Amino acid sequence: MPEVSSPKRRPLIAANWKMNKTPSETELFINEFLRALPPKLDSDVVVCPPFTSLALARSLIEGTAVALGAQNINENVSGAFTGEISPAMLVAVGCHYAIIGHSERRQLYGETDALIKKKIKAAFQNQLTPIACVGETLQEREANKTLEVVERQIRGALEGLPSAETQRIVLAYEPIWAIGTGKTASPAQAQEVHLAIRNILKDQYGSQTSLSVRILYGGSVKPDNMAELMACEDVDGGLVGGASLDAKSFAEIVNYKSKKRAGQ
Ligand code: PGA
Repeated sequence: MPEVSSPKRRPLIAANWKMNKTPSETELFINEFLRALPPKLDSDVVVCPPFTSLALARSLIEGTAVALGAQNINENVSGAFTGEISPAMLVAVGCHYAIIGHSERRQLYGETDALIKKKIKAAFQNQLTPIACVGETLQEREANKTLEVVERQIRGALEGLPSAETQRIVLAYEPIWAIGTGKTASPAQAQEVHLAIRNILKDQYGSQTSLSVRILYGGSVKPDNMAELMACEDVDGGLVGGASLDAKSFAEIVNYKSKKRAGQ
């Protein structure tokens, strides 16, 4: 059988607002962002506001190509889990995506690979596409443990997942030392880890899956560095924190191709 040729994956660019923006700030952002977008998008674009802005954001993006995502989900269906939000509740307010296992959830709220695996499963059971995050600390990078850590996180997150679901997962490589620090991974550093992730997928699920899964880069993505990151063979999009809080800057990131042309 011939090797499966590499189909170009449709880029996905997601805004992770974290704990920022009230509903009225959400409204201002979305109106300005929609005005700044070109009529036809070359990428899937997802906005992940806090839970309190989801319903409003949904009404504002209705009929546009922009999709809605949550920043976290609970792995259970319903019940005595004070303060938590179920996947079905998120689907009911219009979410199509959910960020799962962000490093802030791992580090500040004790999320483990085992819990993240359950959340990914719960997301798929509810037709939510998980954006599952992995990435190493600075200490781990300096100890040359990046690939080992990322491999453990990927294998842990995907363990037991049927291949049909794995093909639809979105992964985000977010080196923790690059998040919110202004220190972006160089394109070569990003590409090295993205390729390693693709090889893990190939090893576990075969070529078809490894070539279908979108692997986003996250960590100080800005309008100025998006084009060079996207030029990497295995970088299929971005998960953007700080620079997604400003409508113009996030629109520039989404429009990274025209920015590159303008700068040539
Ligand atoms: P940053 O955050 O873009 O502010 O570095 C990215 C993220 O945490 O998803």
